[in-house]
Amino acid sequence: MKYQDVTKSPCENAYFLVFNLTHSSENRDTLIDFCNNFSGLIRSMRTRFPELETSCVMGFGANAWTTLFPNQPKPKELNTFKEIKGDTYTAVSTPGDLFFHIRALKVSACYELASIISQKLKNIVTPVDEVHGFRYFDGRSIIGFVDGTENPEYEDERASYAVIGDEDPEFKGGSYAFVQKYIHDMEAWEKQPLIEQEKVIGRHKFNDVELTDEEKEPGSHNVVTNIQDENGEDLKIVRANMPFSNPSRNEYGTYFIGYARYFSTTNRMLENMFAGTPEGHTDKLLKFSTPVTGTLFFVPSPEFLDDLA
Ligand code: HEM
Repeated sequence: MKYQDVTKSPCENAYFLVFNLTHSSENRDTLIDFCNNFSGLIRSMRTRFPELETSCVMGFGANAWTTLFPNQPKPKELNTFKEIKGDTYTAVSTPGDLFFHIRALKVSACYELASIISQKLKNIVTPVDEVHGFRYFDGRSIIGFVDGTENPEYEDERASYAVIGDEDPEFKGGSYAFVQKYIHDMEAWEKQPLIEQEKVIGRHKFNDVELTDEEKEPGSHNVVTNIQDENGEDLKIVRANMPFSNPSRNEYGTYFIGYARYFSTTNRMLENMFAGTPEGHTDKLLKFSTPVTGTLFFVPSPEFLDDLA
């Protein structure tokens, strides 16, 4: 089964681009043509710079899907993300028709591909958001903790959690990408004693070792997001978050991205975080982190893009 690069590890650099479509019938032709040639754009970058491991994932929002493919079925779980409003925290829902997640070992390759894509689409889209993420030392989030450790490890395991299978045969090889741009209150975060920060995440900061169950708290991030199905099996997603920052503007952020075979898994984690776990605990991380975007995209298989007509 072929799938876009949804299982890849976060990489050194990432550009996240979100666009809205300016709807009209000629636009559809331009976009279909773009999709048919999309794999060629990535292939060209890999041929030119084999050592840079350039990749790009393309996704569609629910509204765009319905407009572009009115006579086609919709992936089972593709809907506009429904805001989650808890008593204290809100996971906002924000618009987005097209999404690109570009990764490469050098930022110049991210720039090159982003500029080619933007040029090709410029007459049919308006930009919504653009974030440039970077790997921070040993894979740390901007708040200083290593991010990604408990991701599924091996490729077949990653694919089994991130890629749609026989449960939605027409969209086999697809994935649900959920993104949120978080801004951190760094001043408040840095005022926390180390032990308190470690209780927020549920791991030690310096060496990334997990806290014991006794040391964790019911609102620790890795308690709230660790979920199981009715048979006690772990439910997972593949995360590829990136830090981003403009220190001179006092902006410190995390671009959260989770690829999932079932969006319901990501959504359950979000409900636990924002509305509270069944035991009534929200995520302690949200005291210092506020999402300013929240959008669900469907990432079709490469064949789907190649064969679109
Ligand atoms: C674990 C950071 C948002 C799901 C972690 C860890 C860190 C982290 C440092 C521990 C290391 C690891 O296992 O990766 C962040 C930051 C976020 C964020 C900075 C945004 C501000 C989210 C969101 C979700 C999520 C929105 C789900 C929708 C998870 C999961 C784990 C995890 C499933 C592993 C839990 C386990 O140990 O089983 N995150 N995260 N995270 N995070 Fe997040």
